[in-house]
Amino acid sequence: MAKKIVVIPGDGIGEEITASAVRVLQRIDEKFRIGMVFEKHDAGGTAYDLYGTPLPQETIDAARVSDGVLFGAVGGDKWDAVAPALRPERAILGLRKNLGLYANLRPVKVADALTEYSPLKPELVRGVDLVIVRELIGGIYFGEKCESEMQDGHERAWDLENYSVPEVERISKLAFETARLRRGRVTSVDKANVLATSRLWRRTVTKVAAGYNDVELNHLYVDNCAMQLAVRPTQFDVIVTGNLFGDILSDEAAVIGGSIGMMPSASIGANTSLYEPIHGSAPDIAGKGIANPIGTILSAAMLLRYSLHEDEAAKAVEDACDKALTDGYRTADLWKDGFTKANTTEMTEIIIKRI
Ligand code: IPM
Ligand code: MN
Repeated sequence: MAKKIVVIPGDGIGEEITASAVRVLQRIDEKFRIGMVFEKHDAGGTAYDLYGTPLPQETIDAARVSDGVLFGAVGGDKWDAVAPALRPERAILGLRKNLGLYANLRPVKVADALTEYSPLKPELVRGVDLVIVRELIGGIYFGEKCESEMQDGHERAWDLENYSVPEVERISKLAFETARLRRGRVTSVDKANVLATSRLWRRTVTKVAAGYNDVELNHLYVDNCAMQLAVRPTQFDVIVTGNLFGDILSDEAAVIGGSIGMMPSASIGANTSLYEPIHGSAPDIAGKGIANPIGTILSAAMLLRYSLHEDEAAKAVEDACDKALTDGYRTADLWKDGFTKANTTEMTEIIIKRI
């Protein structure tokens, strides 16, 4: 049976980078005969301009019955003045919630060829291989909020954070399962010295850990974890944390890897999953054809692995990306003297030739 892949380019460079990843998947299909079909749908500011909503119902419906969703990026200054409930970001938040994408996996692996691009010293980043498992549909992102109210003559706003035991259990189990297939170490990150939600988080993760004797668990406060990522990032294997902390730490971890343009992610749900690069829509370079497509191409590799269970095909994509880099090709974000500059289309072709 055909595998239906829903492609949602979104805004900015989203169109260019998802087109690249689809071309790579088409090449994979020729070779591995998976039988993928691609269906494009709108979301983000582009959808808002067309339909008055950043997340049309038909996009949600198509994604829900798909075998996997490939997502580009949303947002841009063009929509800065749009009401909060209609902002482009609501498209990705709405997809996560509607599809029940409870876990976001963000691997950070530093290829030897790229250690020099890290803002950290090469000897600190050599060998970094970690994955952040971020809770994605709970916490302060989705709690009750108030944009504006008056109290004692002053305007105020608030966002409520809550986590339930089942929510924390579900994400913890995935983190322990993930660690089992890696180096068997989980670091749970919270702010249990201050927040009640964090204390429940820590209790629950500790309870779940009892079922995974083969995995080692330690706990870090989020401020310390942020520091440890900069000081000794090789200490981490799997980091599990809540929605807001995971958002912040994953950007920090991504930049350690050199270019945020290279980092993929998978958002896992019970029925379908969504794959997207962790970078944004980069409106400043949109349409110029110079964006780095590798983050999206590696996200497509994660789609092959986690949604289609095509491990060999996923590996072929990852190896081809590695090969393109070791062969000296670089997009503008990584280019320097001595390397061959490639635009988005060229880089895509270079990768495809190596599959
Ligand atoms: C991310 C992004 C989103 C988030 C934004 C666009 C809502 O920063 O995927 O990390 O905060 O989750
Ligand atoms: Mn983010």
